[in-house]
Amino acid sequence: MKKKLAIITLGCQMNRSDSEWVSGLLADDYDYTDTVEGADVVVVNTCAVRDKAEQKFFSLMGRLGPMKSKNPQMTLCVGGCIAQELADGIVRRAPLVDVVFGTRAIDRFPTLLKTYQETGHRQIDVGESDDYDDYPMRRSSAVTGWISIMRGCDNRCSYCIVPTTRGAEQSRPMDTVVREAVELGERGYKEIWLLGQNVNSYGKGLVPTADFATLLARIDSESSIPWVRFMTSHPKDLSDRLIDAMGSLRSVTPALHLPIQSGADRILAAMDRGYTVQHYFNRVERLRRAVPDLSLTADVIVGFPGESDSEFEATLVALDRAQFDNIYLFKYSPRPGTPAATLPEAVDPDVAQRRFEIVQRRQKEITGQRLAARVGEETVILVDGPSRKDDHRYAGRTPQNITVNITSACDLTGQFVPVRIVASRQFSLEGESDTSGISERSSLALQGVRE
Ligand code: 5AD
Ligand code: SF4
Repeated sequence: MKKKLAIITLGCQMNRSDSEWVSGLLADDYDYTDTVEGADVVVVNTCAVRDKAEQKFFSLMGRLGPMKSKNPQMTLCVGGCIAQELADGIVRRAPLVDVVFGTRAIDRFPTLLKTYQETGHRQIDVGESDDYDDYPMRRSSAVTGWISIMRGCDNRCSYCIVPTTRGAEQSRPMDTVVREAVELGERGYKEIWLLGQNVNSYGKGLVPTADFATLLARIDSESSIPWVRFMTSHPKDLSDRLIDAMGSLRSVTPALHLPIQSGADRILAAMDRGYTVQHYFNRVERLRRAVPDLSLTADVIVGFPGESDSEFEATLVALDRAQFDNIYLFKYSPRPGTPAATLPEAVDPDVAQRRFEIVQRRQKEITGQRLAARVGEETVILVDGPSRKDDHRYAGRTPQNITVNITSACDLTGQFVPVRIVASRQFSLEGESDTSGISERSSLALQGVRE
């Protein structure tokens, strides 16, 4: 009988994809379980991006400790960004950890685990690795597939710990990525997410050199995946070629996550983002011309050191101008070792909190207006699954990645369903899936995605 593996994933999609890799590496010897109790191996895949994420990890360790004391057979492993950042420092605060493996040690994890189990000696590996090509994945969804196309980051945003925790940028060979997409298409996957810290610079260092627009074009022509999505993009590297590819390729969905971070040039410069507000809006204008009905989302940070009232106001102006469908909003959190952590002029926490609330309120209005404008539209959704509370309620997402809830007597999970939008809520839409009234445009769209 196989042993049991549980993985707790904190942080971004990259971590979700890495967790599927860890699970794939152990698939011969371990079944996957969602429950930590009774698992033989528990892996915590960690995030260090903000202080809150770190606190979440240590409070989780506080809960896992007693479980391990009760079940000493359990092997407790910590991977991801905090493992990379703190290495053996983790053990001081969480002494029951048996294996620590960094972001570039994933392929060595099975060996580390085995060595620990054979010797009882704690294993710590936060070393480098060149090997970044093909690897086994045990996927958590049969509909949406995550494909890591690159790792690390060569940008140096002054607030960000990621270049430290994830190392130098490295792209996976294009043939490998395309092969993975083709295989997922053959297995009936409906949607893939291409993942990287900065996908717009994909291909740097590959032989022969390649770029992200070419990767999208190859996946579009060689795989049968209906919907292709990607994140994260960087405004400084968003090329005309990529914008044109988004506008012309069948499979690339009209949705883009393009972090702006601030609406003030002086703050963008202090963040070392490498673009101005004008450049950002130049990209947005070109995108809106090239990609009909584009949905745009962004990350925004308030309270960066030295952010003045008028610089904060500039961020509000940028929100009105950009008309994001949604944003991920953060209060600046100093990360030890990053350039911004040493900047003077910290913003008073109460001021940062007030700014956070003002931005949140403003974006809520914009999101609400944009959703309300979609009432009456006919579109297609990919259904993710039933809601937890009601078996007959299903949540799906439009090509723009906007959530639509529908009621249905039959199980629509994993299917493309034509819908009419009948109402808008705060962050989602309400749809009806009565096919009798669906116009030709939507049924054509449906055929399109089934090609
Ligand atoms: N403080 C606040 N937000 C941060 N982000 C990254 N580092 C920090 C930090 N130190 C945000 C950025 C980034 C997103 C993933 O997290 O907005 O785009
Ligand atoms: Fe968190 Fe960033 Fe690491 Fe993702 S890459 S897990 S967001 S620190």
